[in-house]
Amino acid sequence: MAIKHYLQFADFTLAEYDYLIERTKIIKRKFKNYEPYHPLMDRTLVMVFEKNSTRTRLSFEAGMHQLGGAAIYLNTRDSQLGRGEPVEDAAQVMSRMCDIIMIRTFGQEIINRFAANSRVPVVNGLTNEHHPCQVFADVFTYIEHRGSIAGQTVAWVGDANNMLYSWLQAAEVFGFHLNVSTPAGYDINPALVSADHQRYTVLKNPSDACEGADLVTTDVWTSMGYEEENAARLKAFDGWIVDAQKMQRANKDALFMHCLPAHRGEEVSADVIDGPQSVVWEEAENRLHVQKALLEYLVLGKI
Ligand code: CP
Ligand code: NVA
Repeated sequence: MAIKHYLQFADFTLAEYDYLIERTKIIKRKFKNYEPYHPLMDRTLVMVFEKNSTRTRLSFEAGMHQLGGAAIYLNTRDSQLGRGEPVEDAAQVMSRMCDIIMIRTFGQEIINRFAANSRVPVVNGLTNEHHPCQVFADVFTYIEHRGSIAGQTVAWVGDANNMLYSWLQAAEVFGFHLNVSTPAGYDINPALVSADHQRYTVLKNPSDACEGADLVTTDVWTSMGYEEENAARLKAFDGWIVDAQKMQRANKDALFMHCLPAHRGEEVSADVIDGPQSVVWEEAENRLHVQKALLEYLVLGKI
């Protein structure tokens, strides 16, 4: 049987997401009811981190334990990856000792090469280009609060980063529209968007992007790995803060999302992220629940 990986959002069909959403609801309910559920007993998840993390590590590690399995944490600093062991060799070795692998790394080509040499499913825990687990949790959170996301409008205000590219793929899979506003010089890289993408509009003015939106979302101006550009980005992104004025352009019942960690006063004002439209804590919690469904599906298939 061909191994299934989750390297970018578009790796799953809408039917697979529908299945995973139903599984997530069931698995979340069990967790809330303190009902033990151990389908991954004796299974092992290896997590490889080449960048920092709070939510991704915690949600995968706790999730794997809750499913009855074990999780092992490796990072570049104290594994041989930091001393230049080829990714292909690491994949060969690691995948002989576990059932599934999650990686957070830099370029997407690293995780692609890893997956090509792995005997077990590989999950993208964030690369420079994609963050599919987060956007899946966000879509799930939207559906929990408002029902179907198909036909809705999502506003992206900020950097053309990993989160945006995963949102762009989600728009195609789920059939919603994305209004995107990035500052000049930080535009979408067309190589990372499908050529026939029909479901997004680029707007110069970030407030216009929020007009009529059902969900407004943003992310840090400087992603991990781009720290040297921080000073230039602070200048270029001036005006791209999601604040109360921009939220007023959105629909009355619009939600606000941010994958976190956030910088209040930069990409989002405190009154928005800490305000009544914000669902950032639910988004963070849902990482746990959607990823448990994902682990179950990738290791066991449909059950
Ligand atoms: N949102 C997210 O992936 O958070 P971490 O960087 O803390 O894992
Ligand atoms: N775009 C951010 C997301 C952090 C979860 C980054 O890559 O650093």
